[in-house]
Amino acid sequence: MQEAGAHEECSDAPRHVAIIMDGNGRWAAKRGLPRLEGHRRGVEALRRTVRAAIELEIRYLTIYSFSSENWRRPAAEIGDLFGLLRIFVRRDLADLHARAVKVRFIGSRQGLPADIADLLGEAENLTCANEGLTLVVAFNYGARQEILAAARAIAQAARRGDLEPGLLDEQGFAAFLDTAGIPDPDLLIRTSGEQRLSNFLLWQSAYAELVFMPVLWPDFDGAALASAINEFRSRDRRFGGLASRAPSLKERA
Ligand code: FPP
Repeated sequence: MQEAGAHEECSDAPRHVAIIMDGNGRWAAKRGLPRLEGHRRGVEALRRTVRAAIELEIRYLTIYSFSSENWRRPAAEIGDLFGLLRIFVRRDLADLHARAVKVRFIGSRQGLPADIADLLGEAENLTCANEGLTLVVAFNYGARQEILAAARAIAQAARRGDLEPGLLDEQGFAAFLDTAGIPDPDLLIRTSGEQRLSNFLLWQSAYAELVFMPVLWPDFDGAALASAINEFRSRDRRFGGLASRAPSLKERA
């Protein structure tokens, strides 16, 4: 969802940062360690990044923790990633809550172990009234799947007579996405040197500034986040127009 005037109000700091946390496996391989160790260090990097995001007054931080395509990994690694999510939610939830973080999960809950689905709901319920950083965890998430689900829901609403297809606009469509109510990312970071989006926030990142960094995710920290934000600040965001600011929705119409 792109809110009217969102960029005029704070043109030089990103309100929403999204991160593809890549390179855990390579970090471990370089040290002769099992991949799980890379993922464990990845959770530590996540903790550092959340604290840095709060200090930098970022309003929304979205992280790609488990993609719809990660099911193609060996069962043991999938089990490890689920285990780390359990630990992250159980151990860190109280601390996140104390820091006024609002936790939200995007992605499909179908196919997830029941205890994980329950944990996600628990974390969202506990923190739903918090007004600090919104931490959006993309878990079992794929952008194409998200867009397809929205298209299906829209078609069903139209068939019921609840929605007039000809009147559907971008904002109306975005309200059917998992990210409904969350502004679009301003800055999208991918670590590890890979330069692709890998089915992450494809609709929402239409005008995000992309920053690809060579650092492997377990080595990411507040300084790396600050450096990505400096790069973001140096960019000239024109949103298809000529001026360095976002047009309002009215202007875009
Ligand atoms: C990419 O590294 C990372 C992932 C697939 C998972 C990201 C997960 C974490 C940072 C830890 C878990 C966090 C939570 C909240 C559960 P990769 O394995 O693709 O690395 P590689 O490309 O070097 O092999």
